[in-house]
Amino acid sequence: MSDRPGRRVGVLVSGRGSNLQALLDAVQAGTLDATIAVVISNVPGAPAMDRARAAGVETAVMPHRDWPTREAYDEALAAALLARTVDLVCLAGFMRRLSARFLAAFPGPVLNVHPSLLPAFPGLDAPGQAVAHGAKVAGCTVHLVTAELDAGPIVAQTAVPVASGDTGDTLAARILVEEHRLLPAAVARVLAGGWRVDGRRFVDA
Ligand code: GAR
Repeated sequence: MSDRPGRRVGVLVSGRGSNLQALLDAVQAGTLDATIAVVISNVPGAPAMDRARAAGVETAVMPHRDWPTREAYDEALAAALLARTVDLVCLAGFMRRLSARFLAAFPGPVLNVHPSLLPAFPGLDAPGQAVAHGAKVAGCTVHLVTAELDAGPIVAQTAVPVASGDTGDTLAARILVEEHRLLPAAVARVLAGGWRVDGRRFVDA
């Protein structure tokens, strides 16, 4: 596993951790040239942490309720990542909004994977929102995180057709398969450099 400067990734999780697993697998397979330096969960007992431990990756549990304010938590989170000399942060099912304080404290790119074709259906249960809305095409998005929820510059997207019998759960399962491809590829793209943000667009430099 390479551990070159500029390629240390910190992953934030809250739950199941299948996207974390996709990152760990891509590193293991050599398709993502990066080191997963630390996995941090805001939820004690999150299954994602077992995946990290099984891969021999350092873990830290930081329950947000242990800090008095969102800003104090976000500063502590950024400090924990910087202490591990993380270059890029990846939100992989981290179900908590990051404040401008976090983004000011952590200077590197912060990526999030979201199960919709943003800007459609931000927030919780995006696949369920897509089915309820009658959307014919859903999908997933990896974007740079800004202080606005699910709204930063889009790095990559994959479309997933909605079937007539879909429920939120059946659609989410098909989207998840695509997330597992999209997220490692997007992390590799961002680590490779040669990009810039132009207004709200992620473009080649
Ligand atoms: C994924 O579908 C991810 O896109 C979504 O939570 C799930 C986490 O699954 N994230 C969001 O909705 C963020 N707004 P995982 O824990 O198995 O990776």
